[in-house]
Amino acid sequence: MTGFSAEQAANRKRAKAAPGPMAMFFRGFLKHPVMVGSIIPSSKAVINRMLAPVDWANTKLFVEYGPGVGTFTRPILERLAPDATLVAIDTNPDFCEYLKISIPDSRLQIVNGSAVDVNEILEQLGFGQADYACSGLPFSTLPPGIGPAIADATSAALRPGGAFLVYQFNPKVRDIVAPSFKHVDHAFEFWNVPPAQLWWFRND
Ligand SMILES: C[S@@+](CC[C@H](N)C(=O)[O-])C[C@H]1O[C@@H](n2cnc3c(N)ncnc32)[C@H](O)[C@@H]1O
Repeated sequence: MTGFSAEQAANRKRAKAAPGPMAMFFRGFLKHPVMVGSIIPSSKAVINRMLAPVDWANTKLFVEYGPGVGTFTRPILERLAPDATLVAIDTNPDFCEYLKISIPDSRLQIVNGSAVDVNEILEQLGFGQADYACSGLPFSTLPPGIGPAIADATSAALRPGGAFLVYQFNPKVRDIVAPSFKHVDHAFEFWNVPPAQLWWFRND
């Protein structure tokens, strides 16, 4: 008796055979350079600073856009309460499959879809508004119109008092997202390749 179901055991086997996160990320970049938008994942400095203002004790639903190979997903789960949920949405089916086998956590729901459909996705999963959304999307290279549509959809998907956390190296992201929110805080994180711009957008 191992204590694992057949599915869990199969996933553990597949996880062992899967490439490491860096190799998987680079492979994803080679296949979809515009959608991935970066050749290496975010640094620990970006992750810690981006997540620092989150009120974890009062977070029941956290949404992540563009989790990739789970660079932010794992630290979010480390901080998330046992009864909370993380919904991670990525357009790349290879990344979604990779996350499913490499992060066995019942609080994580992985959706192969687009952030632009966040409201429909949350409704289909039976959730109301989210406390936080965090984006690793390459806003500046997304197809025309998609960035503002994601910002509008996220503004509607967040509860009053919620926040949209956005990191990217291109400062133009602010112009794309800010029109959908009332307030924005900004920081610059040098310890990332390339150095990153961080924003916290809110409506309250
Ligand atoms: C720069 S990577 C971010 C990876 C990771 N979060 C990190 O911090 O290293 C961008 C990710 O966004 C995903 N993506 C691009 N467009 C998307 C969209 N419209 N909705 C959801 N995910 C998208 C890509 O597949 C990729 O996984």
